[in-house]
Amino acid sequence: MVSVRGSVVDVQFGKDLPPINSVLRAGADDRIVIEVMTQLDASRVRGIALTPTQGLARGMAVRDTGGPLKAPVGKAIISRMFDVFGNAIDRMPAPVDVQWRSIHRAPPLLSERSTHSQVFETGIKAIDVLVPLERGGKAGMFGGAGVGKTVLLTEMIHNMIGHEKGISVFCGIGERCREGEELYSAMKEAGVLKNMVMVYGQMNEPPGSRFRVGETALAMCEYFRDDEHRDVLLLIDNVFRFIQAGMEVSGLMGQMPSRLGYQPTMGTELSGLEERIANTHAGAITSIQAVYVPADDMTDPAAVHVFSHLSASIVLSRKRASEGLYPAVELLQSSSKMATAAIVGERHYALAQEVRKTLARYEDLKDIIAMLGMEQLSPEDRMAAGRARRLERFLTQPFFTTEQFSGIKGKTVSLKDSLDGCERILHDEFKDYPESALYMIGAISEAKKPAPASKPAPAPPAAGGVAKPVPAKKEPVKAGGAKADPAPPGLGKEEPSKAKPAHEGPTKVEPTKVEPAKTEPTKAEPTKTEPTKTEAGAEEPKSAEPTKAETAKAEPTKTEPAKTEAGAVEPKAAEPAKAEPTAEATPAPESKRAA
Ligand SMILES: Nc1ncnc2c1ncn2[C@@H]1O[C@H](COP(=O)(O)OP(=O)(O)OP(=O)(O)O)[C@@H](O)[C@H]1O
Ligand SMILES: [Mg+2]
Repeated sequence: MVSVRGSVVDVQFGKDLPPINSVLRAGADDRIVIEVMTQLDASRVRGIALTPTQGLARGMAVRDTGGPLKAPVGKAIISRMFDVFGNAIDRMPAPVDVQWRSIHRAPPLLSERSTHSQVFETGIKAIDVLVPLERGGKAGMFGGAGVGKTVLLTEMIHNMIGHEKGISVFCGIGERCREGEELYSAMKEAGVLKNMVMVYGQMNEPPGSRFRVGETALAMCEYFRDDEHRDVLLLIDNVFRFIQAGMEVSGLMGQMPSRLGYQPTMGTELSGLEERIANTHAGAITSIQAVYVPADDMTDPAAVHVFSHLSASIVLSRKRASEGLYPAVELLQSSSKMATAAIVGERHYALAQEVRKTLARYEDLKDIIAMLGMEQLSPEDRMAAGRARRLERFLTQPFFTTEQFSGIKGKTVSLKDSLDGCERILHDEFKDYPESALYMIGAISEAKKPAPASKPAPAPPAAGGVAKPVPAKKEPVKAGGAKADPAPPGLGKEEPSKAKPAHEGPTKVEPTKVEPAKTEPTKAEPTKTEPTKTEAGAEEPKSAEPTKAETAKAEPTKTEPAKTEAGAVEPKAAEPAKAEPTAEATPAPESKRAA
């Protein structure tokens, strides 16, 4: 070992320089794992440590393991959880009877690939109707922080694993450590762990290990596909973290950053991973990947590069999430190359086009509605807007994953039911239903026309759409339930608490002043500036200023305090200022007294 700088380690070898990607081991019990990145000269290599480098020092011996990183494969890995090195991390003994295979492998040749296209049903309405996924394809879920990528991914696992005969491999890259544990327990509870393998390199791990964990998972997928001829579902949360880890490694190796600080080799690294997710004649690897979009910017180079590998892109937006329209799929921005008549069939294609058209028209009308209101729309436009709003609501869905905090039972909906629902809405069969009747339901048959007797009156305005904007705002509160509700009470609490000190302050010093303080809350702001002046120094000017500002009202108050409080001149000046500043103003006089 000739140098150690953070995760970057240089090692000198006598002869036989280990090739790139070789794994070196060092430290007590060979605990520290180093992967060779470059050969610096005839005798030295530079590597990145995949474990923390604590305890590593110059002069220490390093052992060349003579091979690359390896992952365990075999039947015994099913229902287990691993780290990037293939160590079991589920507190159970290491699996026996496994083979160890290199995690590095070239993608299958074009001639080996299968080009068969088949739709993969998820049971989620918005996705099945507008963004059909491809069996053996790659689907991405794009979204900024906290818009529901993980929830949607977990829901898909829930919906698909049960009736898929294949095996699922979940790969957690650089996300929260707790999510691994949560998913493991959830899968165990749901009894689907027997068809699942999990591999994690979460955010607590060094960049090198986050960078390689995707390949470890792929090596396992390839084993199931090529050796066992099974279909594999590969779920990745989150591919952006793979790119980010590559960026960190590249930085550590001293490479010049490219656009927005990303590594110059991002495209190559990403295709190295994505191209291995392929269908061959032996079996298919279907992959669903969450893609974090930094700052909700869809033009971010990382997002753009991932886009180009996918057959379906589901875009999740903060705007829809904030309206409570979960799953927050941006229906017009999401797309799938499967959405063609030849693959999904004429009826589905025509319906999906009609849904998009209706939503796009509503999108165009939104500006006019915002400026002039619904009443200014032509009757057809008003109908179209109503249809679009009903479609938007129908395409929300309660999830099994969110049952605990939304309080609504999860639902899966067959493609047929989803299409029927959209068709009937497009035919205006639900124009007399309030929009909320379609919100967070499963199949369209669940839509209820509430209180038939009283409805006739409210329903016509609803159809006209005039009343609608209001219900729209209410719904999210119901749905986002857990989230939306706590916030307002929180705010509510804060305000009174601010108000109380304001009253308490004056009360302590002079009970007499409490009243003026209450009566002039509006003047509090202009007066705020005055206490600061008060503290600054001049006493007389202060009393003069409040008089200007508050005129007659301020003066009486000032005179009273002067009489009551023999001790301090300042408190009076500060107190007329009262209201909000009280908290600040009262301590100030005290400190002066103390001084
Ligand atoms: N379908 C849904 N129904 C109700 N609430 C939801 C739904 N999807 C997401 N949420 C809410 O949004 C929160 C964040 O979701 P999630 O953890 O999936 O976000 P994320 O996109 O994975 O975020 P990050 O990028 O931080 O990992 C959830 O905890 C939940 O409160
Ligand atoms: Mg997440």
